[in-house]
Amino acid sequence: MKHLNLLNKAFLNFNQAAIKLKDSYEKLQARVGELNSELEEKNRCLQASLRENEDIKNYLKSILESLPCGVIALDAEKNVLTFNRKAQSIIGIPAEEMKGSFCAILTSRLGIPVRDVESFLNAKTISNFEARIKKDYSTAYISLNITALKNSKNDRNSVVVIQDITRLKRLEIQAQRNSKLIAIGKMAAKMAHEIRNPLGSIEIFASVLRKELSGESKKMADYICSAVKNLNHIVCNYLFFSRFPKARLKKMDIHKCLDDTINSIWFVKRDVKITKKYQASKHFINGDHELLKQASFNIILNSIQAIKTNGIITIETHNHFNEETWIEIKFIDNGEGISENDIDKIFDPFFTTKEKGTGLGLSIVHNIIDSHQGTIQVESTKGQGTAFSIMLPVFEE
Ligand SMILES: Nc1ncnc2c1ncn2[C@@H]1O[C@H](COP(=O)(O)OP(=O)(O)O)[C@@H](O)[C@H]1O
Ligand SMILES: [Mg+2]
Repeated sequence: MKHLNLLNKAFLNFNQAAIKLKDSYEKLQARVGELNSELEEKNRCLQASLRENEDIKNYLKSILESLPCGVIALDAEKNVLTFNRKAQSIIGIPAEEMKGSFCAILTSRLGIPVRDVESFLNAKTISNFEARIKKDYSTAYISLNITALKNSKNDRNSVVVIQDITRLKRLEIQAQRNSKLIAIGKMAAKMAHEIRNPLGSIEIFASVLRKELSGESKKMADYICSAVKNLNHIVCNYLFFSRFPKARLKKMDIHKCLDDTINSIWFVKRDVKITKKYQASKHFINGDHELLKQASFNIILNSIQAIKTNGIITIETHNHFNEETWIEIKFIDNGEGISENDIDKIFDPFFTTKEKGTGLGLSIVHNIIDSHQGTIQVESTKGQGTAFSIMLPVFEE
């Protein structure tokens, strides 16, 4: 009986302990529930903030990507950290190569002199610098601006803004050339005029003398006459250059004009093969047949002169359609090419690298193309060849 009592008591104790345990368990469960919902709330907040961060990142990235200029962020050692697509397209380098030292990219990939790059990158204040770069076998001009990234954790970081100023630079070069041309033209016209008057008197007196003299003296008067004629011819040429004939524009066929030029060039053609690749379907323009013949003649003549052996000159035409329709005429040769130093000067009047050159051929071509509201560009690799590209607006019915 005593045992039974003990057992009963033990049971009671156990029951009480079990109830307490259950109680504690329920409390614990409730607490865990609370903690769980707290955790869930925290998680939600964290996720929202992550999403927000991601949104801000994407937003900033889309701003960066939609900028009309290139942006490159650099670390303290001037290595590329980030860049936008425009930066990469302006300097013409594939994305996977836009890493490492920015100095190396500018010097070895773009061919900008090391000295210029170093002083640009190490400038203490905002520094702006313009450079000519080689891009897809042609020349482009870029402007670079570097600024220290203030308020960042590492204030030795910097950001570079890049702009493509090729069009601007070309216009600037063209404007400089035009003003030079105008000044030279005025001077040539004045000089020619001044020379022509006394020249006329000399010719008259020499021919009077010629009639009165005989023997050796008559011969001398003859020399004077022919020298005067020669001089007059030179002066007339200068006058032609300075009082450039006005283009008489009418509907004309570019393909026919090129054919006429090719046919008339036979007398200078040595062992040069001329290949025609006329691909433009719209080849009528509002132009001056004779002047455009002269322009294409001058270009082809230069190509022939630049070719040593096994020369090939290819003449291509293509149409380009943007707001206006254009015809592009390309003259490609495999001649000696033009050095980087000379390429900006070839359209300047009197620039020549030839012993007996006048340096007027391309300057006349430039004038002719200008008077047709066209543009002319050149690409060349020394030792490989040269390509001139002329763009003219096609005739609109
Ligand atoms: N197709 C070409 N290949 C190589 N050099 C060229 C070519 N066309 C022009 N040049 C360069 O441009 C210069 C200027 O040409 P141009 O104005 O026609 O004058 P010129 O023929 O009298 O020298 C040439 O002296 C030459 O150095
Ligand atoms: Mg020439």
